[in-house]
Amino acid sequence: MTPDRKNRIVNAFSRRAGGYDMAADVQWLVARRLAERIEAAPLGRAGRILEIGCGTGFLSAQLADAFPESGLVLTDIAASMLARCRSRVGERPRYQVVDGERPEGLDGQFDLIASNLAFQWFVDLARGLERLAALLAPGGRLMFATLGRETFSEWRAAHQALGFSCGTPLYPGADDFPWPAGMVCQMEEEVIRQPYADGHDFVRTLKGLGAGEPAPGHQPLSAGAMRRLLASLEGGFTASYHILFGEIVA
Ligand SMILES: C[S@@+](CC[C@H](N)C(=O)[O-])C[C@H]1O[C@@H](n2cnc3c(N)ncnc32)[C@H](O)[C@@H]1O
Repeated sequence: MTPDRKNRIVNAFSRRAGGYDMAADVQWLVARRLAERIEAAPLGRAGRILEIGCGTGFLSAQLADAFPESGLVLTDIAASMLARCRSRVGERPRYQVVDGERPEGLDGQFDLIASNLAFQWFVDLARGLERLAALLAPGGRLMFATLGRETFSEWRAAHQALGFSCGTPLYPGADDFPWPAGMVCQMEEEVIRQPYADGHDFVRTLKGLGAGEPAPGHQPLSAGAMRRLLASLEGGFTASYHILFGEIVA
């Protein structure tokens, strides 16, 4: 990924911080599911917790409630997302702008590192996971949800049917996930099928989230091609979100 692409990702999320919650039904649902997994994990009192890509704080608020005694460090690459998160969660946590795949300026030794639907934006997921795993205390856990290979398969198929190339990034599956070497890792999967009024509604939702940046090198469709694509999806469109729930134990 070029710095330009990363800047576009940061700018898109920064611009959408105010409207994000209105568009984020799936993200809320997945944050709830991840919080349930975290609450069921053998974490003890989890004295130190780090969240990566906290956004407006869907997962953060649940972490703050579930671990009232813990030191929370909430981070995101976009400062305005972090500001929204602070207004939701309050002054107890520490807030820090951090690129999660280059987690510099953090003390380390976390009992829990959590992240909901941010890792799919990493340039180098393998290296990013390695760096985060190195911040775990002995016995600490990195618990996350990220997008998997089948995400938006219907959108890809609609492009393919018309001979168009699709800008949805390529996500890993459970079978080729880039786990850090030498760690205990496990994964579970879930597919959430989210209905939209039509293709316009789907595109509007992604843009509303700040999640419209296509795969590296993708050439946008012409206006005419986009019209044909959207016309093919009139009368209802369902998009699959393939969610990978992963866990790394130090
Ligand atoms: C889809 S939102 C998810 C936000 C939140 N975790 C939630 O569940 O609603 C993705 C978030 O990841 C952040 N993000 C993207 N790339 C990141 C990176 N390299 N490091 C940290 N955060 C990143 C974005 O700014 C955005 O807030």
